[in-house]
Amino acid sequence: MSTALVTGPTSGIGEGFARRLASDGYNLVLVARDEERLERLAGELRACGVDVEVIVADLGDRAQLAEVEVRLRDPERPVDVLINNAGFSINQSFVGGDVEAEQSLIDVMVTPVMRLCSAAAPGMAERGSGAIINVSSVASFLPFSTYSAAKAWVTFFSQGLATALADTGVRVLALCPGFVRTEFHERANIEIDRSNDTWWLDVDVVVQEAMDDLRRGKVISIPGRAYRALVAGSHLLPRDVLRRAERLRRSRITGRR
Ligand SMILES: NC(=O)c1ccc[n+]([C@@H]2O[C@H](COP(=O)([O-])OP(=O)(O)OC[C@H]3O[C@@H](n4cnc5c(N)ncnc54)[C@H](OP(=O)(O)O)[C@@H]3O)[C@@H](O)[C@H]2O)c1
Repeated sequence: MSTALVTGPTSGIGEGFARRLASDGYNLVLVARDEERLERLAGELRACGVDVEVIVADLGDRAQLAEVEVRLRDPERPVDVLINNAGFSINQSFVGGDVEAEQSLIDVMVTPVMRLCSAAAPGMAERGSGAIINVSSVASFLPFSTYSAAKAWVTFFSQGLATALADTGVRVLALCPGFVRTEFHERANIEIDRSNDTWWLDVDVVVQEAMDDLRRGKVISIPGRAYRALVAGSHLLPRDVLRRAERLRRSRITGRR
C-alpha cells in the first residue's frame, strides 16, 4: 500500500486531501499542531481500513520540522505522496504591522515546503515514482503582500522542482486555489461574505481538480473556471495596473489613499 504525508490536515483543504487519499487506499502520515483533532481524524480514517501515523509538529519550529524531514527520509517507510498544505493568513498592513507575524508566514509557508520537498524528492526519484502537491494560491500571481509573495515562491519553486524531477517518474503540482470554504479566513479574523458560488469553492471540488490535474501531468492547477480566467487576465495586465487595483482595494478598507 502507498503512503501519503499531509501537512495541515486538521481542517480545510488538508483534511479534504487526507480523506480523499484514505478513500483511494493510501496509508497516511498526518502532520499539524492540534493533537486532539489529528487523533480524531486518524481514528476515523483507521476505521476505514488504512494505517495512520500522527506527527504533532509546529512547522514554524525548525526542530519540530526536522522530525517530519526525518520521517520523509526514512527508506524503510517510503512516502509516495507529499502534500505541503499547512498555512494561514494574517490580517494587517505590512507598513506598521507586526514584523514577527509577517516572518511567521515565511516560516510556515516557505521554509517547510522547501525542506520537506528536499527530504522527500531524492527517495521518490530513486524509486522512480511519487507525487508532490504544494498548496499555493491564486494570490501567488498577484503582487499584494507577504502572503502573496510567499505563495509566489511556492508556485515558482514547484515549477522549478517539476523541471528538476522531469523524467524521474515524480510529478509536482502547485495547487493555486482562490477562495475556498475552510477555517482559513476565520482563523485570520478576516470577515468576508462566503455566499458567492462563482468565487467560493468547496474543498472537495478543489481536491478533485488537483488530483485530476496531477494525473494529467499539469504543473499548475487553478481550480474553478472564474479563477482560470482571472489569472489569464492578470498575466495580460501590466503589474502597475494590478498594484493600483490593490491600492484602491486597501484604501476602501482603511479609508487612506
Ligand atoms: N481557504 C482559502 O481561501 C485558501 C485559498 C488559497 C490558498 N489557501 C491555502 O490552502 C492551505 C490550507 O488552508 P485552508 O484554507 O485549508 O485553511 P485551514 O482550514 O485554516 O487549515 C489550515 C491547516 O494548516 C495547519 N497549520 C497552520 N499553521 C501550522 C503550523 N505552524 N504547523 C503545522 N500546521 C499548521 C492547521 O493545523 P493546526 O492548527 O492543527 O496546526 C490546519 O490544519 C494554506 O496553505 C492556505 O494558504 C487557502
